Amino acid sequence: MKEEALIFETAKHVEQLFAGEGSGHDWWHIRRVWKTALSIGEQEGADTTVVQLGALLHDIADWKFHDGNEEAGPQAATAWLQSLNAPQEIISQVGTIVKEVTFKGAGVETSPSTLEGKVVQDADRLDAIGAIGIGRAFAYGGHKGREMYNPSILPELHDTFEAYKKNQAPTLNHFYEKLFLLKDRMNTAAGKRMAQDRHEVMQAFVQQFLSEWHSQEMPPSSFLSV
Ligand code: ADP
Ligand code: NI
Repeated sequence: MKEEALIFETAKHVEQLFAGEGSGHDWWHIRRVWKTALSIGEQEGADTTVVQLGALLHDIADWKFHDGNEEAGPQAATAWLQSLNAPQEIISQVGTIVKEVTFKGAGVETSPSTLEGKVVQDADRLDAIGAIGIGRAFAYGGHKGREMYNPSILPELHDTFEAYKKNQAPTLNHFYEKLFLLKDRMNTAAGKRMAQDRHEVMQAFVQQFLSEWHSQEMPPSSFLSV
């Protein structure tokens, strides 16, 4: 199968799997990550076939929806590409991207080992911040039955993936535990540039949220510094 056909068949497959998903991991998320990754990948001189397949398959079996199993994603991506008889080299590069893309907690180093992985991770992270990122965070929180905010539950910076996975805190905490940290963890120059505006949109949103909630009364101090 030609490389364009691999991408086309994979896009069709993933669109069918993710259509109408309600946790912020829907087909439109995948499609935005695909387009952003292709654009960053071209600017960075990455292998755009591997980048596109990695972006399309990056959430195919996310640990968040598979009882915390981190192996499910790489396995599902590999099995799909094998079913298309993709070249072994491409399968293994894409499997590595799917394995390395995910955020694992504030104190856990997760820089992907390949340029293509760095590009896909940046594109995925750009979709977690800014206006769309705010929407996705609350969609995810609602999907999981979380509170929006609770002033008595303070944010935690997780040192291990296990602790991050177990966390069930309100959605506003997620801004402090992940979303505000992403701007300084972008891998590529294009990703860093795009992250700046989106970061500022989130800061303004959280400041406004806290000021509406608390009005005259002050929020707890760890919810002050954004
Ligand atoms: P990653 O694999 O890095 O977690 P995803 O593509 O799966 O990236 O996207 C994660 C999305 O889910 C983001 O939009 C993020 O805000 C949202 N999300 C994950 N955990 C939480 C949480 N505890 N509260 C709110 N949103 C969350
Ligand atoms: Ni994603």
